Amino acid sequence: MLSLELIQSNLNTRYIGRSILSFDELDSTNSQALRIPRSNLTNGLVIVTDKQTGGRGRRGNTWHSLPGKSLTFSVILFPDVSPKTLGLFSLLAGLAVVETMGEYNIDAKLKWPNDIVIFDKKIGGLLCETKVTHNQVDVFIIGIGLNINEDRIDFPEGIVDSATSVKIILNKTLERALVLTHLLSRLEKWIDHMQHKDKIISTWLDHCAHLGQVISVKTKDDTVSGIFSGLTKYGEAIIESKGKETIISAGIITI
Ligand code: BTN
Repeated sequence: MLSLELIQSNLNTRYIGRSILSFDELDSTNSQALRIPRSNLTNGLVIVTDKQTGGRGRRGNTWHSLPGKSLTFSVILFPDVSPKTLGLFSLLAGLAVVETMGEYNIDAKLKWPNDIVIFDKKIGGLLCETKVTHNQVDVFIIGIGLNINEDRIDFPEGIVDSATSVKIILNKTLERALVLTHLLSRLEKWIDHMQHKDKIISTWLDHCAHLGQVISVKTKDDTVSGIFSGLTKYGEAIIESKGKETIISAGIITI
C-alpha cells in the first residue's frame, strides 16, 4: 500500500500535496478530479490511488499501471494564467519528473509534449486536462503515471518492449511514497517559476530526447516531419522542414 503517513511526514511543500485524497481503488485519478465539484477542490490538492482500473493516456489510450508498484496521481491547480500558457504546466511537470528521477541517478529525458523516457523506453507519462466552466478554465489537472517497482514481466505484451521502470533500471525497489514527495516538491518549485517562462523552455530543451533530430509528429489531421528545432514561448513544437517552420500545439512524436 502507498503510505499516506509517509507522504505527509516527508512532504516539505507549501501547498502542493498539503491536502491529499487517497483511494484504495479508482477508475482514474484524472476522472475523479473532473467529477469533484470545484468547491470541494483546493489549489494543490493531490488525488492518488494505489489501484487505477481505467487509467487514461493521451489520445484516448489506456494507461497501464500495477497496484502496489506504480505511481498514479493527479494534482489540482487553479491557475491564474492565460489559457494560452497552460501548455507550460505540462512542460514543468515533465521537468519535475526528470529532476526526481535525477535524484535516483536516472537520466530521464522528455519527449514532446508529455512523455518521460529512458533509453527510448517510456517510464512515465502526463495527462493534463482542464475543467472549463462558463468558458473559463477554472481547474487544471496534471495527471502523472510513473513506473516505479514493475518488473519486465508486469508489463502487458503490447508495451513490454517499449516500457521500463525505475526498478528495471536500478535493480532495486523504491519506496513510492518518498518518490511522490520528491516529485511534489519539484513540481511546486517549478510552478513557483511559472513567470520565468524562458527558464522553463530552456531547461525543458536541455532534457529533450530529440532536439535537433528529424522526427514525425502525428497531429489530429496530419503528419508533419522535419527537424525538431525548439519550442515557442507557449511550449508548442517548432518543426523545420525545407526552410519552413511549422508550429504544432499537440501531437504524438515518432523519432
Ligand atoms: C500518456 O502517456 O499517454 C499519459 C499517461 C498519464 C497517466 C496518468 S496516471 C494518473 C492520471 N490518471 C489517469 O487516468 N491518467 C493519468
